[in-house]
Amino acid sequence: MMRDGYGRIIDYLRISVTDRCNFRCVYCMPPEGVSLLAHDEILSYEEILRVVRLLGQHGVSKIRITGGEPLVRKGIVEFIRNVRKIESVKDLAMTTNGSLLSGMADQLKAAGLDRVNVSVDTVNHERFADITGRKHLTEVLAGIRRAVEAQLTPVKLNVVLTEALWEDDLLYLVEQTYNSPIAVRFIEYMPIGRLGIKPGLDVAAIKNIINKAGYGCLQEDDAVKGNGPAKYFRLPKAQGVIGFITPISEHFCPSCNRLRLTADGKIKSCLLLNNEIDIKACMRGGGSDIELYELFLKALQEKPGRHRLSEGREEDDLTRRMFQVGG
Ligand code: 5AD
Ligand code: SF4
Repeated sequence: MMRDGYGRIIDYLRISVTDRCNFRCVYCMPPEGVSLLAHDEILSYEEILRVVRLLGQHGVSKIRITGGEPLVRKGIVEFIRNVRKIESVKDLAMTTNGSLLSGMADQLKAAGLDRVNVSVDTVNHERFADITGRKHLTEVLAGIRRAVEAQLTPVKLNVVLTEALWEDDLLYLVEQTYNSPIAVRFIEYMPIGRLGIKPGLDVAAIKNIINKAGYGCLQEDDAVKGNGPAKYFRLPKAQGVIGFITPISEHFCPSCNRLRLTADGKIKSCLLLNNEIDIKACMRGGGSDIELYELFLKALQEKPGRHRLSEGREEDDLTRRMFQVGG
């Protein structure tokens, strides 16, 4: 089992398989455009599989595939099939923008993907286009439906709390939890890089709106499968749940269980820390599994106890944007 310097058990690896994305979310990609990694700079699927196998021997049993947008990388379905073959992997999930999901959900399920999280910050077509730079809300909603039908469940919707989320979006999303076994998760916006979008409703306001909307009161519910920090609630008689992820108002660092691997082969011990450890050079230079594992142990020692976002520390100096880490 892997433990970090604070005694936290690390059993979850988030793997970014590409920094490419067919969206341009304002809080994720800088407006001036991005310089993307060349093909030979990103880890090959074989290299990633080696890491998953190695960490599997040390207790990492939960894997999430992220990007950029993971579904734009060629061969992703076959890659999922190969990750699924690794016996240590107990939970295999993906975070996607959903735009390509309707055509791929069945294949992904057949390849062994357990479940998906889909980002959808508003259900208003105009505001969706404003925030993502693309007019693809219809495709995303279709992708979510297909994912539920393909039983990539629990399907979780990630709703970042920005000014694009209005009360009518909120109520539409909340209503979906009645008839569909989805988890709608409201995520506090982390002010990383000040990329032209303002935070919107806060968690207290959202709970207030829901409780006043005539659905009955939110009741705590902890039955949702997951690895993370969301706190879940359910409306009376609803199939699905409503979750809140509060990195700012109530940071959850003490229960952090994760490491991240970037597409270009860097271990990140914390989303909000610039420290990274290169494993690509070790792997391409013929490093042994022991040498490779030592780099992960080093990352565990560097993992901070908590982030400092709520103390007003500006995070403008982060060297990586979201699309380069995968959330
Ligand atoms: N704050 C909170 N969540 C964010 N995401 C991207 N940027 C931010 C931010 N600044 C979310 C995306 C996606 C997940 C990977 O991270 O919407 O759902
Ligand atoms: Fe793409 Fe996700 Fe970033 Fe939006 S938030 S640009 S969908 S990687």
